[in-house]
Amino acid sequence: MRGRVLIAWGIVAIAGLALWIVIEPPAAVPDRSSARVAGEEAAEASQVVRGAYLARAGNCVACHTARGGALMAGGRPIDTPFGTLVTRNLTPHPGSGIGTWSDADFRRALHEGQAPGGRALYPACPYPQLTRVRASDADAIHAWLRSLPPVDAPHPGHRLQGVYGWPVALKLWRVLWFRPEPHRDDPARSEQWNRGAYLVRGLAHCSACHAPHNRWGAIDAGREFDGAPMISARWHAPSLSDPAQAGSRGLPVADVVALLRDGVASHGSALGPMAEVVLHGTSHLSDSDLRAMVVFLSDLPSTRGGAGPPAAPARTAEPRVLERGALLYREHCQDCHGREGEGAEGWPRLAGNRALTSPVAANVVRIVLSGGFPPSTPGNPQPYGMPPFSHRMSNAEVAAVVSYVRQAWGNQASPVDSGEVARWR
Ligand code: HEC
Ligand code: HEC
Ligand code: HEC
Repeated sequence: MRGRVLIAWGIVAIAGLALWIVIEPPAAVPDRSSARVAGEEAAEASQVVRGAYLARAGNCVACHTARGGALMAGGRPIDTPFGTLVTRNLTPHPGSGIGTWSDADFRRALHEGQAPGGRALYPACPYPQLTRVRASDADAIHAWLRSLPPVDAPHPGHRLQGVYGWPVALKLWRVLWFRPEPHRDDPARSEQWNRGAYLVRGLAHCSACHAPHNRWGAIDAGREFDGAPMISARWHAPSLSDPAQAGSRGLPVADVVALLRDGVASHGSALGPMAEVVLHGTSHLSDSDLRAMVVFLSDLPSTRGGAGPPAAPARTAEPRVLERGALLYREHCQDCHGREGEGAEGWPRLAGNRALTSPVAANVVRIVLSGGFPPSTPGNPQPYGMPPFSHRMSNAEVAAVVSYVRQAWGNQASPVDSGEVARWR
């Protein structure tokens, strides 16, 4: 944060200096109008810096920048169950970008999901959450976008399947499933909690993945953080309210902050799509914003335990499967994760790790098949990786080793069979 403040002041200072050089009056006494202009320029510069920060928090950069493409010039494909959507050019190019948009146009795009001229936007841009972004924050993001070099990158068009490509389908979807909704602070809660709620539910749009979606891709109202399978990416976004999955309730705030900031913490590491969220989004946030988010997350009503019925007890795997799994573990996994699944500096602990014991085994199977790297962040600049095993193990072998780690060292989660592995391969 201190670095960002310094950069902010640096930019303000440079802007001020540049202005002074350009408009230095012949007389030594600065006239009043130039002092006012300098003040406006400084305000503009700090608005741009704030906008850049908010655009990181909203992960706009990752989606609106194609791999190897110009910053914010769009062109990145987003796979959905309805087809592939392509992100749009947000640079100030007057033709193919948003160079002609006013602040009001930009606010309306985020708040109402509508471009100038009434063109409705597809909710692959997370405006069902971005609708809560405050007008002042939208203006700051717009100011930052206007400060970028204009890039001529026309939109190639979306590739949607069948009826999903018909404009009437999107219109109907919006009538049924979308209401613009401002963020409202809860006066009964602390300022910190409200800041966290604003970021998690609005700008950082965590529920875009962590909420169950109905078959039309709309969020189930009231179940914003209950966890959901990510159909296209073949990962499962765990529940952020269930302490048996990824709930923060009861965990030290510092541990969850570390996960969001560094991508690794003592209780787990960010995998797959979550690693990208950390890399492009949360690792850029100030500690005070991260703490606010975690304060809000820790306060989510728990969807497990308490009044609800107890979770179904885990099934035990067949001894034959566990033996095979134990052998495979010793051969392929133990060097990094330890004899007793205790892990080591840089290698996650598997004993008692919620990523393994979650009722949904998709992510454990996924990481064993595909391997992965935690994100490289200032707090963990050179992460160790995990090798993929998809070409080295059959479905039955993956099922055996996954069943083993889900039941060894006190872990108590149901085994998986080779059919399940085949489904996620
Ligand atoms: C998950 C990916 C994703 C994220 C995150 C995302 N967008 Fe988008 N955005 C899209 C897609 C896809 C479109 C194209 C939608 C369409 O054409 O209907 C889009 C369209 C837009 C448009 C409309 C542009 C136009 O010319 O019509 C604006 C404005 C916009 N996004 C702003 C933002 C901002 C600001 C953020 C961050 C707060 C953001 N987006 C985050 C995917 C994303
Ligand atoms: C070369 C060292 C190495 C080997 C061998 C290895 N892993 Fe990993 N494993 C890692 C690292 C590093 C991570 C963190 C990856 C990430 O965050 O993307 C990880 C992550 C995991 C996770 C997710 C843990 C979490 O906190 O999210 C599971 C489960 C796992 N490994 C199981 C296995 C199994 C089962 C095997 C053997 C088939 C294995 N690993 C072999 C290094 C290794
Ligand atoms: C693009 C989809 C996506 C978005 C957006 C997203 N997540 Fe996740 N998240 C996932 C997936 C998939 C996992 C499971 C993999 C893993 O354990 O890291 C996950 C895991 C997590 C975990 C558990 C990590 C662990 O291993 O302990 C937490 C906590 C979390 N997310 C919080 C958040 C917060 C807070 C936000 C909003 C800033 C967010 N997520 C946004 C997809 C997403």
